[in-house]
Formats: sequence, C-alpha cells, structure tokens
Amino acid sequence: MSDLERARAIVERARRPVVFTGAGVSAESGIPTFRDALTGLWEQYDPEQLATEAGFRADPELVWRWYASRRERVAQAQPNPAHLAIAALGRRRAGLLVVTQNVDGLHQRAGSTDVVELHGSILRVRCLEGCAGPVEGWASDPRVPPRCPRCGAPLRPDVVWFGELLPEHSLQRAQQAAIDCDLMVVVGTSALVYPAAELPFTAVRAGADVICVNPEPTAIDEIATVALHGKAGELLARVLGG
Ligand code: APR
Repeated sequence: MSDLERARAIVERARRPVVFTGAGVSAESGIPTFRDALTGLWEQYDPEQLATEAGFRADPELVWRWYASRRERVAQAQPNPAHLAIAALGRRRAGLLVVTQNVDGLHQRAGSTDVVELHGSILRVRCLEGCAGPVEGWASDPRVPPRCPRCGAPLRPDVVWFGELLPEHSLQRAQQAAIDCDLMVVVGTSALVYPAAELPFTAVRAGADVICVNPEPTAIDEIATVALHGKAGELLARVLGG
C-alpha cells in the first residue's frame, strides 16, 4: 500500500479529525510563506522591524504599509485546491475544526466554517493601546494607520506579533482539539513557531494519528503516522477524498 493510500485509509476511519495548517497551504495561492528559502517573507524583511509591537511603535507607517501590501495580495488571491479540499471535508464531516496559523482568511473564503485563527487575521485591526473590541469600518488608507475611534491611538493589524501571547480562547480551543482528535492532518508548516508547533505532539501523546503534507521534511515527520512530501494543492484532495 502506498503512503498516499495509507493516509487515505486513516482519513476514512478517523472519527474526530482536525486539520492544522501553516503558510504552506496558501503558497499555491501566491501568498509567500515566511521561511522558504529566497521567497519567504523573513528572507526578505526583518521580522523585528515589521512583526513586533516595538517595530510598529518605532515606525507605524512602515509596518502599516507592509501589512497593507499583504492585505492587497490576499485580496487578489484565491483559495487553492488545498483550501477547497479541507472545506469539502468539513461539509462531509460535521464538526471538523480547522486550526490555522495563517492570517489570510483563505480557509473561510474556501468555505470552511469553523476556523481557529491562532495568529489572528490581517483583515482585522485593533487599538494599539488595547481599547476593547473589534473596530469596524476602518479607513484602509495603505499609507498611514487609521486611528482608534475611542482613544485616537493608531490601529494595528489584529495579528500575533513576535513576543506576544496567542489569543487565549483560540489557543485553548486548539489544544483541546489536539487532545480530543483521533487524527491531525498537518499541512504546510515548518513547525518552528511555538506554542502552535506543539499541537501535533499533543495530538500524538493523546493517541491520535498524524498525517503531514509538506514538500520538505520537518520535525513533524518524526511523529507522523504518514509523512507525504509534496505540495498541498496537489496532494490534499487525494488524501482527504471526496
Ligand atoms: N504545500 C505544502 N507545504 C508547503 C508548500 C506547499 N505548496 N510550499 C511550502 N510549504 C511548506 C514549507 O516547506 C515550510 O515547511 O510550508 C512551510 C511554511 O513554513 P513557514 O514559512 O515557517 O510558515 P509557518 O510554519 O506557517 O510559520 C509559522 O511563523 O512567522 C510566523 O506568525 C507567522 O504564522 C507564522 C508562523
């Protein structure tokens, strides 16, 4: 039996599958990953300058322009066959949870209805000084960050920057899902950023199977029941069936 057939059989018999994704699932939609050689964002830009609160306070316009260009790219992108295969599995398996590190909203655009965004979303903003609540209808001038309607402070992308805690409710949901699942399908993550990267290990400790899909080997290969080396857009529909 080939690895693909083994993975397919594991998906078929799973009762409580969870899908965990990273930037690689959006690569075929034209959204760069973070760490891929040459093309990765962190190969081209300084994460300290662009993805920390200190960096934003030091130069809000620079950071805002960068996120505005990423938002523009996401707006022009389309969900790819990997996103669509996950959404289709969600229609066949009631209660399927998608846990993502991605901030692009492409899972939701593909039709996935229960998505935990561990690292937030670049489609939302919030007050830099922590005024409570989401901000709707903000002026999306790509040059300057809009101002908080409550306190006048700059609004920042509602994403998790380096050195920041993940949204508590989202992390708890993801950790509980990792404990409760009998299969975790791990797609397109380098598994280098914690606490998100711990989830597949939590699932295995709880007795679940892990299938990982990535053109490159990662630490997840060590614990995977099946590790498939290839592109998500080319493999996932065959793994998830439907
Ligand atoms: N299909 C599947 N996987 C792919 C594809 C593809 N077409 N193309 C690339 N990959 C893999 C790469 O081999 C790599 O292992 O996707 C992975 C992307 O890894 P990263 O760029 O490190 O992205 P990710 O794991 O999501 O990063 C985690 O780091 O920078 C922070 O907050 C950011 O959420 C992000 C977190």
